[in-house]
Amino acid sequence: MADTNVFPVPESWKKSAWINKETYHEMYERSIKDPEGFWSEHAKRIDWFEPWKTVKDSDFQGDIRIRWFEGGKLNACYNCLDRHLDKRGDQVAIIWEGDDPSVDKTFTYRQLYEEVCRFANVLKAQGVKKGDRVTIYLPMIPELAIAMLACARIGAIHSVVFGGFSPDSLADRIQDCDARIVITSDEGLRGGRKIPLKANTDEALDKCPEVDRVIVVRHTGGDVNMVAGRDLYWHELMKDAPAECPPETMDAEDPLFILYTSGSTGKPKGVLHTTGGYMVYTSLTHQYVFDYKEGDIYWCTADIGWITGHSYIVYGPLANGARSLMFEGVPNYPDFSRFWQVVDKHQVNIFYTAPTAIRALMRQGDEPVRKTSRKSLKLLGTVGEPINPEAWLWYYNVVGEKRCPIVDTWWQTETGGILITPLPGATDLKPGSATRPFFGVQPAIINQEGQILEGACSGYLVMLDSWPAMMRTVYGDHERFKTTYFVQYPGKYFTGDGARRDEDGYYWITGRVDDVINVSGHRLGTAEVESALVAHEAVAEAAVVGCPHDIKGQGIYAYVTLVSGVEPSEELRKSLAEWVRKQIGPIATPDYIQWAPALPKTRSGKIMRRILRKVAANEVSDLGDTSTLAEPEVVEHLIRNRMVR
Ligand code: WTA
Repeated sequence: MADTNVFPVPESWKKSAWINKETYHEMYERSIKDPEGFWSEHAKRIDWFEPWKTVKDSDFQGDIRIRWFEGGKLNACYNCLDRHLDKRGDQVAIIWEGDDPSVDKTFTYRQLYEEVCRFANVLKAQGVKKGDRVTIYLPMIPELAIAMLACARIGAIHSVVFGGFSPDSLADRIQDCDARIVITSDEGLRGGRKIPLKANTDEALDKCPEVDRVIVVRHTGGDVNMVAGRDLYWHELMKDAPAECPPETMDAEDPLFILYTSGSTGKPKGVLHTTGGYMVYTSLTHQYVFDYKEGDIYWCTADIGWITGHSYIVYGPLANGARSLMFEGVPNYPDFSRFWQVVDKHQVNIFYTAPTAIRALMRQGDEPVRKTSRKSLKLLGTVGEPINPEAWLWYYNVVGEKRCPIVDTWWQTETGGILITPLPGATDLKPGSATRPFFGVQPAIINQEGQILEGACSGYLVMLDSWPAMMRTVYGDHERFKTTYFVQYPGKYFTGDGARRDEDGYYWITGRVDDVINVSGHRLGTAEVESALVAHEAVAEAAVVGCPHDIKGQGIYAYVTLVSGVEPSEELRKSLAEWVRKQIGPIATPDYIQWAPALPKTRSGKIMRRILRKVAANEVSDLGDTSTLAEPEVVEHLIRNRMVR
């Protein structure tokens, strides 16, 4: 099948970009043939206190060992701040745009450095030491980046929990990594609405008696309950803290952070990233993928509670001395022009967002975009889920006015940084394709039996070798790391995504092939939603699948069997949705709840999710092989009563 829709690299980009077609191919070849040579050269972009002993030591067999730049000593915070002070001390590091359009703030590198040092001293004074875990539950305010960098400075491991998660989800994440200190704020603010973060924290901490310190940022000024002996205000602690704090010397393989993410089964797992490889890789990808040039203003709209914000709002950009914009608000507040008003206000050059936001804005028509200038924009990016070609074209034509290449970046919490992506000066674009691997990345497509497929093909996406920013383990559970990613297809890293490769070698990610769903670019395990549902007294059994959703990409479709004696009702449906929302967070609220007198199972009792997905997608004419079904009439009932037609 020929792709007629190809957008060649613009002439001006060929000349000006860091990487063009020729250099891409040369550098890619070298990165695969001589990874040691390639990465030792590029690792020099980072300041090391002491050089590494081995560049790469990784093994996808047996116990799974992934190490990069071992023996090298560095500090991530030093690389993001101290080393820029001479040259860029007075240059803006973070531009913060509040939820309220009249509120913004900037921090120069020197100001950020001083705030971070102060907070690092605060943490030390509270007894936080190298290797301790610090849970951060903050909205998108500068203190979030400051707290992360302060942890990195003293060698503490941060675990940022997205502000949209419920008290229960927060408690799970605090317990799993055994954090003794939590940093939060009175409230968060999104689209004019207040989110009671401190109250949520209080509720979570009922289940976490080990936490003996809570530091509270006063943000909205809303009323909070300060627990004597446990809770302290950020601003009071910062008042007397010195603005100098020497950075801790860390090994390249010392942990930098934990970030929880959803998998197919069980509770979210703590993805562990270490220091050296992560810093090298995130800074290199930030420079090349976004073609970052000195002075550019770069805006990634993600929440720092997700990996995108860690790697491409904080660590990558700041390591590069960039000007990174951080946005507290939402795309539709005060109105649907907000993104573009912010672009104009701060003269943003590079804009990176999620397909779900693009689809939601596209639905409002062109007018809210057209009434803004956007002349400053030169490059657009997307991340988090597949982008449908219609949304890609709208983004390209209307937002970028056919002037800005789009980088569709494929990666995961586990990968730490972007793995498959166009480089704007090197890659001809095809709407909907993440195109080609970044340097050092060796993707392959395999079939169900694990055989590597050649040429144009489709199957499961795996990685054949490690790259510097790859996760090292699941915190506290290396066995789970092995079984999740390396057991099904031994010797390969299994991404959980399906993909197609075309005759030009371009990759097209088709979405998750496991029980992970991607709702508005937020990753959720269907098992998590199911266990929230069955925790409700009216529910006997539940099965959750993803279903197509125009804006969110995927919606949440739940099949619920009630305990006998409980009658289905609209009211119960609403209260179950509300229940899940309370248990996990608003992002997990089911879009559809279908009453299921029974669930389709095999004769051995396994729920046939494949069939449930088809019914939820309204693809009922071809259910595939149903010969193993124990009770075919169960499926007929579900089809008759399906919620989407
Ligand atoms: C999906 C987000 C298609 C994919 C950085 C992956 C994408 C999951 C893309 C990881 C893309 C991310 N095209 N799908 N450009 N980017 N995904 O861990 O299914 O929140 O496995 O990391 O998002 O989500 P996560």
